[in-house]
Order: sequence, then C-alpha cells, then structure tokens
Amino acid sequence: MEIHYEVISEDNINCIKDLCNELMAYQKSISYIHTELFDGMNFETRMIPSVKSAQANFLVVAKDDQEIVGYAYSNIAPKQIYTNDFATLQCESFFDFDSVKTDDVGCLSQFYLKYGYRNMGIGSVLFKKSMDWLNSFNSINDLFIFVSNGNDNALKFYQGKSFKISHQILDGFITVLRNT
Ligand SMILES: CC(C)(COP(=O)(O)OP(=O)(O)OC[C@H]1O[C@@H](n2cnc3c(N)ncnc32)[C@H](O)[C@@H]1OP(=O)(O)O)[C@@H](O)C(=O)NCCC(=O)NCCS
Repeated sequence: MEIHYEVISEDNINCIKDLCNELMAYQKSISYIHTELFDGMNFETRMIPSVKSAQANFLVVAKDDQEIVGYAYSNIAPKQIYTNDFATLQCESFFDFDSVKTDDVGCLSQFYLKYGYRNMGIGSVLFKKSMDWLNSFNSINDLFIFVSNGNDNALKFYQGKSFKISHQILDGFITVLRNT
C-alpha cells in the first residue's frame, strides 16, 4: 500500500462527497446522545455550506493509488458562524466569546479515514498537514475541534496531539476541544 497526499481545490470538493457521508453515518452509528440530530447531516447540508461560509478552506486527502481513502477538512471562519450553527441545533452558544480575541477561529472540521486505513499513521499525517495550514495564519490563535458523542477514539487521538477538552454542549452531544 502506497499512500500519498493531495490538497484539493474548492472547485473539486465533490470528490470527498461519499467519504463525507460515510463520516456522518459513522458518527451516527456510534452516537448515543441526541442521535436524531445526525438525521439530515450530509455532504450537502454540512460540507457545502461550511466551505461557502468560511474565509479560507483546506482540504487534504490521502490516496491509495487513485482511490481517496481519507480526508481532513479545516477552515478559518467567523466565530459567529458556530453560534448560529449550534443555535439551529437548539443549543446554547458554543463558547465564551470573551475568551477568543479575534473575530475568526480555526477549526479542524471533518476528519475521516475509511475502515482498513486507520491506526497506521495516515491520520497523523493528515492532522499535521491541517495544523500546519491552520497555524500558518498568524492572526488566528484559537483552534477548535468538535467531537460527537461516542467517539472516544477520536478524543484520545486529539488529546494525544495536545488538544484539550474545553467543554461539552447539548447534553454531551458534542465535546469541544481547543488548542489552548
Ligand atoms: C480518528 C482518525 C482520523 C485517526 O486517524 P488514524 O490514521 O487512525 O490515526 P493514526 O494511525 O495516525 O494514529 C492512531 C494511533 O496509532 C498510532 N500510530 C501512529 N503511526 C502508526 C503506525 N505507523 N503504525 C501503527 N500505529 C501508529 C498513533 O500513535 C496513534 O496512537 P495514539 O492515538 O495513542 O497516539 C481515524 O481513526 C478515523 O478516521 N476514525 C473514524 C472517523 C473518525 O472518528 N473521525 C474523527 C471525527 S472527529
């Protein structure tokens, strides 16, 4: 197996549509709190609006030969977007604005490897490439990752990469991780 990595332009995000929908289905399958909130979450309702509303987007994929087997999607977006987003989930504001000095925040928004490609270091490469991109914005200090309930493996992975649990929202539906 020879894995290589490729940055995908915004015009070509459709190439991860199936994997994005797999990620949503995976998250739903392991979730036990407000599982119904995953209904209606898919590439069209999550990925496309996210890309459109962000100031900057970064999509990197892992390929096994010609097949895309995983991706990480990060963005820089106004912090207000997250408040609006979680408001649609009938959720309180997702973090204390006073603790974030800038208008924009960085987020590792979606991260997924197909079954059979996990625990081999591929995610660590995608994660590092995403962090390198997010950290290239000198004006952005605050990075966030949202992990849905039931995904303790992902929580451990991010904690191993120095992200810390900030708080939970919507009865624990999502755990918010921060870089500070
Ligand atoms: C979460 C996810 C993206 C992590 O990617 P991954 O490729 O499995 O992660 P890695 O292999 O880089 O790292 C996982 C573990 O394997 C270890 N590892 C790293 N390189 C390795 C290698 N070459 N061989 C074996 N193990 C390795 C790492 O140390 C790590 O252990 P740790 O978490 O205790 O530090 C991936 O497992 C996944 O897609 N899971 C399903 C979807 C998901 O949960 N997405 C996250 C949504 S928030």
